[in-house]
Amino acid sequence: MLPVRPWEAPEINSWRRLPMHAVDRRPGSLSLDGEWRFQLLPAPDAPLTDSWSRLEVPGAWTMQDAGAPDLPHYTNVTMPWAHHPPASPAANPTGVHEREVDIPADWAGRRIVLQVGAAESVLIVEVDGQAVGVGKDSHLASEFDLTEVVRPGERSTVRLTVVKWSDATHIEDQDQWWHGGITRSVLLYATDPLYLADVTVRAGQDGTLRVDCQVRGSGTEGPLPEGWSISGELEEFGDLVQDAAYEAANRAEERVSDFLGEARLSATLSGVHPWSAETPVLYGLTVRLHHADGTVADTSYHRIGFRDIEIRGRDLLVNGERVYIRGVNRHDFHPLTGRTLGADEIRADLETVKRFGFNAIRTSHYPGDPALLDLADELGLYLVDEADIESHDHAHEIADDPRYLPAFVDRVSRMVLRDKNHPSVIIWSLGNESDYGANHDAAAGWLRRHDPTRPLQYEGAAKTDWSATDIASDIVCPMYASLDEIVAHARSGTQTKPLILCEYSHAMGNSNGTLADHWQAFESTPGLQGGFIWELWDHGILQRLSDGRPAGRAAAGAYANGVAAEGYRWAYGGDFGDTPNDGAFCADGLLFPDRTPKPAMYEHRELAAPVRLSWLSEEDGTLLVHNHQHFRDLSWLTAEWHLSAEDAGTITAPAALPAVPPGGSAELPPLQGLLAMLPEDGGEAWLTLRVTTAHDETWAPRGTEVCTPRIRLRERAPFAAAPCAGSVEVDGDGLLVHPLLTSPPVLSLWRAPTDNDLLGGPADHWRTLGLDTLVRKLVSVTRDGKQVSVRSAYGTRAGTVLHEQFFTPVRDGLLVEETAVLPEGVSDVARVGSVFETVSGLDLIEWYGQGPWESYPDRSAGAAVGHHRASVDALFTPYLRPQESGGRHGVRSFSLSSSGGGPGLTVRLDSPRQVSVVRHRAHDLDTAAHHDELTPRACPVVHIDAAHRGLGTASCGPDTLPPYLFGAGTYRWSWTLCRR
Ligand code: GAL
Ligand code: MG
Repeated sequence: MLPVRPWEAPEINSWRRLPMHAVDRRPGSLSLDGEWRFQLLPAPDAPLTDSWSRLEVPGAWTMQDAGAPDLPHYTNVTMPWAHHPPASPAANPTGVHEREVDIPADWAGRRIVLQVGAAESVLIVEVDGQAVGVGKDSHLASEFDLTEVVRPGERSTVRLTVVKWSDATHIEDQDQWWHGGITRSVLLYATDPLYLADVTVRAGQDGTLRVDCQVRGSGTEGPLPEGWSISGELEEFGDLVQDAAYEAANRAEERVSDFLGEARLSATLSGVHPWSAETPVLYGLTVRLHHADGTVADTSYHRIGFRDIEIRGRDLLVNGERVYIRGVNRHDFHPLTGRTLGADEIRADLETVKRFGFNAIRTSHYPGDPALLDLADELGLYLVDEADIESHDHAHEIADDPRYLPAFVDRVSRMVLRDKNHPSVIIWSLGNESDYGANHDAAAGWLRRHDPTRPLQYEGAAKTDWSATDIASDIVCPMYASLDEIVAHARSGTQTKPLILCEYSHAMGNSNGTLADHWQAFESTPGLQGGFIWELWDHGILQRLSDGRPAGRAAAGAYANGVAAEGYRWAYGGDFGDTPNDGAFCADGLLFPDRTPKPAMYEHRELAAPVRLSWLSEEDGTLLVHNHQHFRDLSWLTAEWHLSAEDAGTITAPAALPAVPPGGSAELPPLQGLLAMLPEDGGEAWLTLRVTTAHDETWAPRGTEVCTPRIRLRERAPFAAAPCAGSVEVDGDGLLVHPLLTSPPVLSLWRAPTDNDLLGGPADHWRTLGLDTLVRKLVSVTRDGKQVSVRSAYGTRAGTVLHEQFFTPVRDGLLVEETAVLPEGVSDVARVGSVFETVSGLDLIEWYGQGPWESYPDRSAGAAVGHHRASVDALFTPYLRPQESGGRHGVRSFSLSSSGGGPGLTVRLDSPRQVSVVRHRAHDLDTAAHHDELTPRACPVVHIDAAHRGLGTASCGPDTLPPYLFGAGTYRWSWTLCRR
């Protein structure tokens, strides 16, 4: 009999579910993925009807056209309904999935197991009308023994009923879309009645290996198998034999159930290559369970890595080395399926993560697909494996609620039982945002006993007292703490544990300002070891505009470069009519929904550069190269010099990387020959080392760019533009009349608010000041010979901003010298600069300055100074909710031209400035909620800023740091506008 209404019973986490284990998939398993019969009931106790549709499994029903009007719903903290734990609403979509399965005839006499990879939030299993089991814990598999239920050689009907809302929903209140359904694969497998129930591997970098096997016999009736034994084989090292003493001790135990005992394989191997994220060396381990006659009953295959994790003082050590954690938080997300991802897709994503310099992932906020763990082992990524527990909206009451105690222990232990053999897992996490209570301590107690080889962390436990020692967290892992706070803690003398931010640098929209400041602090402050950026992707679901439904797998490819194709858009909270919702707060990743990297990825890549440069002697032109890796030398890299001068183009030359041990430095061969190629009058000059992979890596083909460290060789010459004959024309309003401009340069103090500006407050402040609706009033026009001076006044609610433009004819164009005086009260503005619009058709841009990536004052480490060219359209970054974007920092000069020929223009700037050239006005961007509402203008909109506010991360976390803020005062900037 099924338990009664298990969706209302937090004490029931499963019924007749098999214990979790780490035994590998058995060969010959039968995949049940594919089309199933499906119907969606309005509630779990509603009667089944005759009307079935078809549904792809795995696949959430909320993402498929299954004739069911249950669509994705996005909330962050707020539960999607008002019920208090453990209650859930009566209107509770329940998906019934059914299909026939032919049980292979050669499974006769074998033990048959059904595995459902993941189902949210309650799974009820029936086979041929018989109740089989129940499972909760939406992101881990549930297994059920079907041996007594099905008959080999015959056909059975499997029914998987998935109840969307339950008591468990209250502890799965993660900040992501709500879906319903089966989201990971379903399969059947068979084993011998004598089988491996679990395998636990411990492998240290010194070559010690211990493999503990738990053996069970199926069915308790009849005689249990006698005389079994285990053996093992390790790639490169050969046979492993059973530890006789250990076996004897266990065999002596009285057998009371199907538990037959435990056995151990142990060895000390010399010459193993340790596993680390940089050197992910794996060895294939085969464990065999034998019958008394020596025949093999069961086999489990593992790819194991030898490595040690240890906390010493306030340092987290991998193989004895204090490693930086360059991490990112990863949810399960896909724009076409919601949460279901194939192993190939997971691989592609992890390769991207590696290619951008990350070495760690936090599996926020639940354990990943088994493929994720295998791939992290293989590609080399440290994992913080997090249990599926987040009770955000009702955190306090649940943390100590004894009804939820079993769920906490169950979820943590199931994760550990499944993932313990993965070298990639270096830290366990008890979950996220669930306050801190006895339920956590209970789970931590189980964990510490079961796996003393890894630290555990829980942000909620460490939150209130970073120096506490008696809590369920071995690491202080705050989220969004300010730099000042963490540096102060590390310097306080009271730090007792490593500090690794579990979340920082919120990647919502145009964000990740001050990432470089963070890494500067991490790399210079003992006690700080890095953190995990929030988060990997924008959870934008591809939505059909015709009917507002998720586009689904059928629309594969209906997007490119981060942009949804015509007829589609990236949906965020509210776009499916979902209420309550948290809008675009789910669009907060470093990757667009289609996996296109955002500019911040390049910023991160540079900050993670394994190779860095510094002067040994600037006079002698000698450079040092530093190896910033922990375990690898530089032999996997190759490099090329790019020598670029403002007025003389770029010269490339091969570079030889010297042998540098991990953490070490070496002098580069003298560069005189190369530097001699630099023309004397070439202006400002930079030397960039373009570092690429020398060979194919598992995560990147040969030739993949890894980093571009650089050094300035020569300063810029002072800006000068000699006046010449000619004239400057201004109209009756004092506005410049110029044949290449359709809209003259005027003052701009505002930008289309970024998500950080909106959620962090500045956008409101600017509106309050009236900066978004500045009105210009002409004060005076003065002519002095060929020069024209125009004075204007812009009213704000905090006083008048005076703006003066001084136009002088110069060769081929004119010089514009500008001054703006912001009165006291006009504080913390977005920008001070000029905006104008050019004639249409100028679709190409070349610039000397930072690039090619979009960059802003506090996010400019990724962009090297050099000559860059692109289409104007390519400069724009299509952040899901339109906002300020497309900027380039440190621009010295730029030219706009038309691919169709005809005149263009060149602008030279007095100093490196923030510049943007995009086909939208700030107001266009500000008033659009999605990109399908925007029409690019024919005439490019050009901003030249004397000052531009940093981006910060205020949508969740600290605002822009003071060095990147500005307000009242006098600003001066000059530029020339010439025909090209
Ligand atoms: C954190 C939380 C994440 C996410 C993030 C904001 O508080 O752990 O799940 O909500 O903030 O995007
Ligand atoms: Mg939360």
